[in-house]
Amino acid sequence: MDAYLADLHFGDEPGTAGLDEAMRYSLLAGGKRIRPVLALATAEALGREPQEVMPLAVALEMIHTYSLIHDDLPAMDDDGLRRGKPTCHVAYGEDVAILAGDGLFAEALALVLTRQRGAPGDVLAAAAELTAAAGVGGMVGGQYLDVTASSELDPAGLRRVHELKTGRLIAASVGCVLLLGCVDGPATLHYGRFAEELGVLFQIVDDILDVTGKDAELGKPSGSDERHGKPTYVSVFGLDRARELARESHAEARGALRQSNGSTARLEAIADYILMRQT
Ligand code: IPE
Ligand code: IPE
Ligand code: MG
Ligand code: MG
Ligand code: MG
Repeated sequence: MDAYLADLHFGDEPGTAGLDEAMRYSLLAGGKRIRPVLALATAEALGREPQEVMPLAVALEMIHTYSLIHDDLPAMDDDGLRRGKPTCHVAYGEDVAILAGDGLFAEALALVLTRQRGAPGDVLAAAAELTAAAGVGGMVGGQYLDVTASSELDPAGLRRVHELKTGRLIAASVGCVLLLGCVDGPATLHYGRFAEELGVLFQIVDDILDVTGKDAELGKPSGSDERHGKPTYVSVFGLDRARELARESHAEARGALRQSNGSTARLEAIADYILMRQT
């Protein structure tokens, strides 16, 4: 996957080399690559060759990177460090960072529609799921709820924000591969439940690490949520209860996976990593 990402260049339109540079700067800065790894592991669980879904996996990472670039902007979380490096707007300016995010989103879709192999109907269905997960019923809608949330969000409201802003794209990392693999029936339901819960777990742990983590390990500034008075699992439930809820969420995700009857060893390991991670 790293080689695939490193080979990506975006357009050869004269005068746009600086935009390509900013897009690649954020994309290649590192990061855990959880979403593409999940997509590849899902292909494996279904008995498919993981390489087959590489364009989709890379597109997920591009959309995620776009969401991070915009999330860090001064108008949003106003953070200066991402993936251990100055954020895109610090390195290239706000105007270029906004365009780099927009560019990554559009190029991600183009990648799926032009490079992802599969029956045309399945590729279209996966592209539709990917865009829905990035849209108002997913990441962007969740980010809207996040920036407009009052600090007295109730637990159900908080879970909803997490489901949308982070959960939907993580769930799509599994769901899009199911669509490409033409899986339906009960297995879809179990994988779907696993993926949905995994996405919420991911953001609960992100909230915890914002309080307990160190900048050097996280590669981003800790304490960002508190600085902005953001409602999080820690601010709403306290640290101990947030940790308990993370363990419950992990158990729920693992339970759903057990019922799927696939070759899920790698998906199980990813779920465990998401609970235990320190970065
Ligand atoms: C951070 O995502 C933003 C959230 C959705 C919580 P990651 O923790 O996956 O960030 P990278 O990709 O590893 O940098
Ligand atoms: C952002 O959530 C989720 C996105 C959709 C980018 P956060 O604002 O908590 O992510 P970090 O902590 O900055 O990575
Ligand atoms: Mg944010
Ligand atoms: Mg943020
Ligand atoms: Mg966070």
